[in-house]
Amino acid sequence: MKAGQYFSKEDVRITQVEKPFPKKDEALIKVSSAGICGTDMMIYLGKHPRAEAPLTMGHEFSGVIEAIEDTSEFSVGDHVVVEPTISCGKCPACKAGQTHVCQNLKLIGIDMDGGFAEFVCVPTHRLRKIPKELSLSTASLAEPLAVAVHTVRRSSLKVGENVAILGAGPIGILIGMVAKLNGAKNVFISDISPYRLEIAKQSGLHTIHAGNKDTVDEILSYTEGELIDVVFEVAGIQSTIDQMVKLIKTQGEIVVVSVFKSKPMIDLASMHFNEISLTTTRCYSNDDFITAIDIMTEGKVDVTAVVSHQFPIEEIKKGFSLMKDSDQSLKILIEP
Ligand SMILES: NC(=O)c1ccc[n+]([C@@H]2O[C@H](COP(=O)([O-])OP(=O)(O)OC[C@H]3O[C@@H](n4cnc5c(N)ncnc54)[C@H](O)[C@@H]3O)[C@@H](O)[C@H]2O)c1
Ligand SMILES: [Zn+2]
Ligand SMILES: [Zn+2]
Repeated sequence: MKAGQYFSKEDVRITQVEKPFPKKDEALIKVSSAGICGTDMMIYLGKHPRAEAPLTMGHEFSGVIEAIEDTSEFSVGDHVVVEPTISCGKCPACKAGQTHVCQNLKLIGIDMDGGFAEFVCVPTHRLRKIPKELSLSTASLAEPLAVAVHTVRRSSLKVGENVAILGAGPIGILIGMVAKLNGAKNVFISDISPYRLEIAKQSGLHTIHAGNKDTVDEILSYTEGELIDVVFEVAGIQSTIDQMVKLIKTQGEIVVVSVFKSKPMIDLASMHFNEISLTTTRCYSNDDFITAIDIMTEGKVDVTAVVSHQFPIEEIKKGFSLMKDSDQSLKILIEP
């Protein structure tokens, strides 16, 4: 079968590998759609600490069960998405029931072969059945949407509150959609990419071009000086860390979603003066993942808005090189 594998820095290739065979408690999935994510880009750029070449990446995917070695509730032909987190079950976080913050958390597509292939074997306990009326392409966005669901649930956002999201990547825009669904009043979103801002605007978010004007001034001019109730930091750079502290109201909440590669400077004195809460967030719980599937199925959010390109697996190289330019792409789906 064909697989899109990572070999070394900026070297992703289509290779012929042996079709895997499901072991006990596993299912063989015929992959339908798999999204390229920022983490895949980190692997592609040779910057991921755990990924070992050769690796079939891809942790955001949907497909159809081709074969199964299990007596679970699944059957051949079922449409599924994969919840790619694999926790150890033994560490203190797992024992406390917080398996998504497992100290030894592994991901399908990072620590083992994933969805950029015609077929992949997955432990059946990581499969989530989806209704056939939900398209398999849309369903492959369950994972990033689950990140957004978890993020908004971690926040204290209440109906009628103002939200600012710094960074209009796929995660920022999906957080905006979920915040609106939860009754946020104005949802401001900033980015330096006009391409991404246009998609955010089409999704009903109030866009701010961070490159043209000062993001903080711009947002406060719309709110007539009223500071923001909940700020989500989703760009992962020093300037948005500075902005989040300037934007937040007294006793407001900042939610840092970004994964920082180096230690940013944070104005804790200002946060202390204004009793600001700081919340972090990682992945999603099983319940967040199920909710993500439900809200897509019910059509409560149009996640397809974040899909900028769909490529057959033969064009995976093109997909990765396009992802390097954030002003030409958003979510790219590989469809084997
Ligand atoms: N907490 C979690 O579990 C979790 C899960 C997924 C992703 N993440 C992290 O969330 C972040 C966002 O993910 P993504 O996939 O959307 O990444 P992304 O890189 O596509 O999005 C970041 C966006 O920030 C924008 N940006 C750059 N400079 C800016 C500025 N000055 N002002 C405003 N925006 C600016 C970029 O143009 C880009 O669109 C990443 O750091 C990622 O690692 C965290
Ligand atoms: Zn991802
Ligand atoms: Zn654990």
